[in-house]
Amino acid sequence: MAERFIGLMSGTSLDGVDGVLAEDAGPGLRVLAHVAAPFDAALRAELLALNTPGDNELHRAALAANAVALAYAQVVQQLLQQANWAPAQVHAIGAHGQTVRHRPQAFDGVGYTLQLLNPSLLAERCGIAVVADLRSRDLAAGGQGAPLVPAFHQAQFGQPDAALAVLNLGGISNLSVLPPSGQDAAVLGFDCGPGNALLDLWCQRHRGQAYDADGAWAASGQVHAGLLAALRAEPFFALPPPKSTGRDLFHADWLATRLAPFPGLAPADVQATLAALTAGTCVDAVRAHAPRATRLAVCGGGAFNGDLMRRLQAGLPGLQVVSSQALGLPPQQVEAAAFAWLASRTLRGQTGSLASVTGARGARVLGAVYPA
Ligand SMILES: Nc1ncnc2c1ncn2[C@@H]1O[C@H](COP(=O)(O)OP(=O)(O)OP(=O)(O)O)[C@@H](O)[C@H]1O
Ligand SMILES: [Mg+2]
Repeated sequence: MAERFIGLMSGTSLDGVDGVLAEDAGPGLRVLAHVAAPFDAALRAELLALNTPGDNELHRAALAANAVALAYAQVVQQLLQQANWAPAQVHAIGAHGQTVRHRPQAFDGVGYTLQLLNPSLLAERCGIAVVADLRSRDLAAGGQGAPLVPAFHQAQFGQPDAALAVLNLGGISNLSVLPPSGQDAAVLGFDCGPGNALLDLWCQRHRGQAYDADGAWAASGQVHAGLLAALRAEPFFALPPPKSTGRDLFHADWLATRLAPFPGLAPADVQATLAALTAGTCVDAVRAHAPRATRLAVCGGGAFNGDLMRRLQAGLPGLQVVSSQALGLPPQQVEAAAFAWLASRTLRGQTGSLASVTGARGARVLGAVYPA
């Protein structure tokens, strides 16, 4: 019988947890249940606060890691209920945890990446083995530790006869470039820049809403060329891959500094300009690194942003821009499914990372296993 895995992802948007229960359908997975659960407001605020240096961090981070585990455990219960399964019928949970710092190769040359989660508590609450801390080993091997999803994208979406580009629009955007699966060419992947993070921040501040539904507000504004140029001057965009980023770089102060020379801009025009930044940096990445792709499949919550999708299509007239749904997996399930798949790899002693993506010395078996 096909083995079953749960994948749990809570990304940089800090919107909450996406969980899937999936079974092996080699080389990829078949998703059998999906649950999306928002973080409660207090936990979300604390996780956001822990992204920047503050008082008593060790204590607060430890308690937040417990709270993330409990939120994850609730998602697991709901998935088991939906599928009508007992814990013993699930092989393992691949759990990402909540990234609060991501500084590969910084400081001492190794750097660190920190995903808050208490995996022992999660295993104890669920009675299922947990595979966690999936990024650190790649850093130890000299890599970025991110993105980790391209290998799954290739297994799940790779086409025998066509190159495909897959763009994840989460809080941060990342691109996977998949050669035809029959070819020996390497899979590429890297973070492009901000996805929804700045759009969400600006929308929350000026509209009191967690996100700009369908990008309607951004679509109502005018792109400001001067501000766009100032935002695009960020050196990260011009760096060659391998590269990865997070809220360590693209945070409220980053935006405030670049907005300062443009006082009095209408908030809707700033939102339009942020949308142009997100779409434009992704378009540049596709043009530079996926010249042979004929399709761009978009996943992550940004796939529901019609304004972003139109901007991507306008910037890439030679490609067909589609939701990952067109390839059989709804946008909000892809990243969670990737962590279910990574857990399956680890339990089988198979590598999960790709050195061609992260820049590590080689592919590695990722994470640590917390037995049921
Ligand atoms: N209907 C919608 N219209 C516009 N934007 C949406 C819509 N639905 C979701 N989003 C955006 O998607 C975001 C959530 O996406 P997602 O969960 O993929 O990101 P994430 O948690 O940061 O994941 P990751 O960092 O792993 O890629 C929301 O914060 C919001 O910006
Ligand atoms: Mg999310």
